[in-house]
Amino acid sequence: MQTALTASEESRVHEIKDILHRHPELSWKEFETTRLIKEELTKLAHIEIQEGYLPTGVIAVLKGGKPGKTVALRADIDALACTEESGVAHPSEVEGVAHTCGHDFHTASLLGAAMILSRMQKHLPGTVVFIFQPAEETTNGAGKLIEAGLFDNIHMDTLFGLHNRPEIDMGKVVVKRGALMASKNNFKITLTGVGGHGSMPHKCVDPIVCAAALIQALQTVVSRNTDPLEPCVLSIGSVHGGSLENLVVDRVEMTGSIRCFSPEVMKRDMERVQTLINMTAAAYECGWTFEIKESLPALINPPDMHAIATRAAKAAMGEDAIVESQPSLATEDYSLFMEKVPGFFYWLGVGHKEEPCYSWHNSRFHTDDTALKYGSALLAQSVFSANE
Ligand code: NI
Repeated sequence: MQTALTASEESRVHEIKDILHRHPELSWKEFETTRLIKEELTKLAHIEIQEGYLPTGVIAVLKGGKPGKTVALRADIDALACTEESGVAHPSEVEGVAHTCGHDFHTASLLGAAMILSRMQKHLPGTVVFIFQPAEETTNGAGKLIEAGLFDNIHMDTLFGLHNRPEIDMGKVVVKRGALMASKNNFKITLTGVGGHGSMPHKCVDPIVCAAALIQALQTVVSRNTDPLEPCVLSIGSVHGGSLENLVVDRVEMTGSIRCFSPEVMKRDMERVQTLINMTAAAYECGWTFEIKESLPALINPPDMHAIATRAAKAAMGEDAIVESQPSLATEDYSLFMEKVPGFFYWLGVGHKEEPCYSWHNSRFHTDDTALKYGSALLAQSVFSANE
């Protein structure tokens, strides 16, 4: 079954992308975006919007004319706190907010898929669930949708989603088997001591010195405790403590993250982090606390889904469209959906062949929107391929 946008649908998808791009909204504030998505879906036959989930985002269902599986298609819809410098024709009109991860591209692509599938409803097997997910950038939108009962209320057999990749040329797609994006644990460490005057360090316990030793020690978790053939990153991203040059403070706070693909690596590294905090704090006579602020599983594309996704990509984009890519240690909260339903995640090329590449979250990031037709066709085709 050939899934492609008609010329008029394609031009509407481009208009939608431009509107979304001009009016970016931060996580959990995607009210206008939500309104626009609903308005567009309401124009399409056979699509029913499901109310009662979250204040932003949209869930909608399309029942096909033939029996088949229930296939979910997901796009994220939120923007970032960033000042755009991309030089595109329709830049952000909102001060300090911009679609520098291309979720506007994902939203427009999924609306395009909805146009195609609604038009093909008579031939469409099964049911399609459209998930326009809020708050991916804060990596809690997917979790909140699960908590709101999405997967309890609607049985889904499988799930597809995509993220744009400016490093991959427009017209190409990455259909990767296995590990695609990392798991992460974001953590916060608090070290406590005894404050006092800088001239009397022997009457104080200085958590700044302890923090310095701990930061050094934590560097050995990846270099000494992790299999060198397993990708892993441990970073301390912030250190806060102290105010004056002649003061010993009583508290230092640090935040950091571990990212990797393997659950065994994560378990071992987290144990090492806690041991190093405990022992270093003891050595420097400090108190400590350790909190995990945020956790996400890795995004792993299963082998049987890889076969379906490969068929879909070839049918939607051509035999030569699939390219290889290394996985990324970035994260995606789509991985939480994949714990509920076997799914697949594509990386769609949006790179401009003749221009320098600016990656996700860069103020100059922009997508080659010629690829919108591929995003729409690929998502729509995935529904048919899952039913073959
Ligand atoms: Ni993103």
